[in-house]
This record gives sequence, C-alpha cells and structure tokens, in this order.
Amino acid sequence: MSKKVKVSAPGKIILSGEHAVVYGKPEIIGAINQRLEVTIKELESSTKSLIFSSQEPSGLLEFGTKKIFKILGKYPKKALEICVDSEIPIGSGLGSSAALAVAITTALFKFFNQTIDRKKINEIAYEIEKRQHGTPSGGDNTVVTYGGFLWYRKETESFKFFKPLRFSSDKLSEFVLINTGRPMETTGEMVAIVKYLYNRNKKRVEEILNGIEEVTRQMLIAFDQAETKKIMLAIKKNEQLLEKLEVVSPFAKRIIREIEKKGGSAKICGAGGKRKGSGILLAFHPKKEVIFKLTEKWSLPTFEVKLGEEGVKIEKN
Ligand code: PMV
Repeated sequence: MSKKVKVSAPGKIILSGEHAVVYGKPEIIGAINQRLEVTIKELESSTKSLIFSSQEPSGLLEFGTKKIFKILGKYPKKALEICVDSEIPIGSGLGSSAALAVAITTALFKFFNQTIDRKKINEIAYEIEKRQHGTPSGGDNTVVTYGGFLWYRKETESFKFFKPLRFSSDKLSEFVLINTGRPMETTGEMVAIVKYLYNRNKKRVEEILNGIEEVTRQMLIAFDQAETKKIMLAIKKNEQLLEKLEVVSPFAKRIIREIEKKGGSAKICGAGGKRKGSGILLAFHPKKEVIFKLTEKWSLPTFEVKLGEEGVKIEKN
C-alpha cells in the first residue's frame, strides 16, 4: 500500500501584544479550534513530481516543502501529492500561514520517519514564516506547534522565551470572533508600516509599545482573576494603542466603537489592515448575543471560538 500521512495544526489568536512582540515585548497567544490539515500521499508514478493542492495563493506550501527536504537532507523516491484543507481564513490574523508551515513540517517529519521533535519543527516553521512575513516574531508558529496559551517573547533572534499559561476561566468561552474582511495589506506590509512610524518618531512609538506591554500584563492578571470588567478594559486599552500604531482601518474602528457603545469591547487580533478590512476582531461582551445582533446588521461573519486548543498533531488516515 502506498504511504499516506495526515497532520492537523490549529490557528491562533493573539489576546494581547501583536506588533509590540516584533520589538521584543511579550504577547499572550492561544491556539484555537479552527484547524488546517495537510495530507501527503505517495503516488505510484515513475516521475518524482510534486503535486500541490492548496487554497493559499502565495506558494508557501511549495516553498516550505522544498526547504524541509533540504534541511532534512531527504527527498521522496516517488511522486507526492500534498493537499491542504483548512478552516482558517487566509491572511486575516488567525495564523493560517503559521499553521501551514508547522503542519507541512510535521507531516514531512512523519513521512520520512523522523522523531516528532516539536522544538525542531518550530524552528523550521519559523524559517518558513520568514518568507511570508520578513521579520516574524515567531509567536504564531510557536503556539501552533505547542498549543494551549503561551506567554511569548522574542528576546533575540536566537533566544525566544515562552511559557505555557493555564487559565481556568470560563470567561474564555465568552469571546467571539468577527471577520471584518481580508486586509488588502499582508502581515509583512503591516509590520513595515509600524517600522516606518517607529523610524519617524521613535520616542512616541516606544511609548505606545510600552503601553501595550503594560496592557498585556494587565490582561494576564485579568484572566487569572477571571474578572470580566478588567478583561474588557484591557482589550479596550489594547485596541486604542493599536489604533495609535495606525494598523486599524476606519471600517473596523466603526464596528469596534459600536460594540463599545453596547457595553462590550473588541480589538483587532494579528497584523490588522489599514485600508478596508482589518481581518479578525476579538470581541468580548458578558452577553455575546449582543455582539451577534450587532454584526448581523453589518452582515459580518461572526463565530464563537474555543481557545487554548491542542497544537499540531498526527491524525489517523
Ligand atoms: O496577522 P498575523 O496572524 O500574521 O499576526 C501577526 C502578528 C504580528 O505581531 C503583527 C507579527 C508577528 O510576527 O508577530
């Protein structure tokens, strides 16, 4: 029988700390229950061709596959069909590229009978992410690899600190995700926009980044104490600071202001978007029906999310 391997990896959301994490600040990041699946099938063909099937348009799958062959020094003896099937919207802040990078790396490790070493997989996925984002923090690929919630901090390029966080709070089930539309800008472009701002006004941007760091710590305390009011306040402050970094579009701001008026709070999660869509919003309201009612008016896809889910795993064929 021909060989077949199937692997799934979760998407992620950043609870607090996006953009600031690129500058060495901490972030709180969690794996979610939307997953991406990679299947590798060996084909009975004499040519050693590779057939890719994926919704993502950037060629990341092909790039990643060839890079992993090179790193492992292992190449397939027969033709391979590599398929991606994903529930994670592309380029919208839910870590679709990290899930792809981690899943293809793990699948090829399994295919070539390598030990599933999460540390190694994470390092390779980070290298693949660089093609997509230029200077990624590495937080996305790390949480996708290990799952759960992480406190993550990139101290230097070669030293990245992370620690699992255990939240027992049922408040975590009160989060709702709203899709404001795929941003016109890529993550790399959004990171470059902040960099441009930083180079123009270092003092002001550093103040904003320090503010985000403070909010990230407040968020950690709010979750530990399971305090709804504190959680909402931290999200609101975080969003205000992200708006100062100019990564939120006018359209997304309008939706967020309406949620705030109704007693909730929301923030972009991920790189954001400047012109139209800002990707996914992380929204919180003690009564989540209020948010569903509001976004129905705007016809915006809105869904409940489970946080702290399992990292990459080998699936049964
Ligand atoms: O939009 P996403 O899911 O690619 O998240 C990007 C998060 C940033 O902090 C903006 C960049 C990074 O590498 O951490």
